Amino acid sequence: AADLGAIARQNGVTFGAAVQDSLLQKDPEYARAFATEPGMLVPEWAAKWAALQPREGRFETAALDTILRWGQAHAQPVRGHALVWHNSLPDWVAEALKEGRERALAVLGAHMDFVLAHTRAQIRDWDVVNEMVANPPGSDQPQNTPGELRDTPWLRALGPGYVETALRMARERDPTLRLTINEYGVSEDTPAAAEKRRRLLALVRGLLSRGVPLDAVGIQAHLQLAKPFRPEPFAAFVGALRQMGVAVLITELDIRETWQAPQDMAARDALVAERAYAFLSCALGAGVRTVLTWGLTDKYSWLTTDPGVALPGGRTHRGLPLDAQFRRKPMWDAMARAF
Ligand code: XIL
Repeated sequence: AADLGAIARQNGVTFGAAVQDSLLQKDPEYARAFATEPGMLVPEWAAKWAALQPREGRFETAALDTILRWGQAHAQPVRGHALVWHNSLPDWVAEALKEGRERALAVLGAHMDFVLAHTRAQIRDWDVVNEMVANPPGSDQPQNTPGELRDTPWLRALGPGYVETALRMARERDPTLRLTINEYGVSEDTPAAAEKRRRLLALVRGLLSRGVPLDAVGIQAHLQLAKPFRPEPFAAFVGALRQMGVAVLITELDIRETWQAPQDMAARDALVAERAYAFLSCALGAGVRTVLTWGLTDKYSWLTTDPGVALPGGRTHRGLPLDAQFRRKPMWDAMARAF
């Protein structure tokens, strides 16, 4: 079948998508789409801290195991997302992180011990730290610190060395893993994104200069039509990362429309497709070889369910390659063309 995964693969690219284990079991059309389109999976929820260790020492792997079994059955490797993040943290972790450095290290170490052992044979590629760079002034995102690293419970517990610590801990536990740090807000042509790119490059340069194990940088790419995209700065950014010897992945692609999006469906879909093509052809041209979308179908997308990003007037975002009836949209064609 000429699905996106196969089209990408013919061109040396891996296409994947974020998956929800419960929907694989509940919605046969969803299951059919996930059986055919992606060549790789990432759990949208099941590998986050609150899913895996909701109470201290009580690990729950049923949801992740569902996805790992699915991946095995369909020859779809599974990425891990995410070990260290400020969201999806159960309250007990937030509390433990206030109890000082030793306790924080013990909690993180125990989480990695279990999770990396449990997934050892199957997950080869982990987002070790997610969203660690602070949003610069002028960003429309929370600006919560004067420094270049975001103010999070992990930063407060372990100081700015926590990114390095987490990467070293992961490498110690499994030297064969591909270790990734993952970030958002660095794709578009705005002053805030340019500054965030600079911060991320400086972070990576510093980590590598200290011999910290880091194999790849993930770029989330939750794109917004309200922001301009220009290929030159983004390609230069990907090029700079690759020059330092790290791989660059697009990890969470989806496209948000503007509040003033046209009402006409075809016009809306054309704008989304145009942005997908411009962004992906730039990324692939700059050497990206792995592209994942954050979901597959508009029927189930955080763009629709998250109140912070939903569109007004009862309209739902159409930011993924398949529509809510699982039909291929112009974005699907644009992605196939870009691959
Ligand atoms: C989102 C999921 O899509 C939601 O279902 C969940 O409730 C919250 O997280 N950046 C990330 C992802 O790294 O983990 C987020 O996923 C979307 C933004």
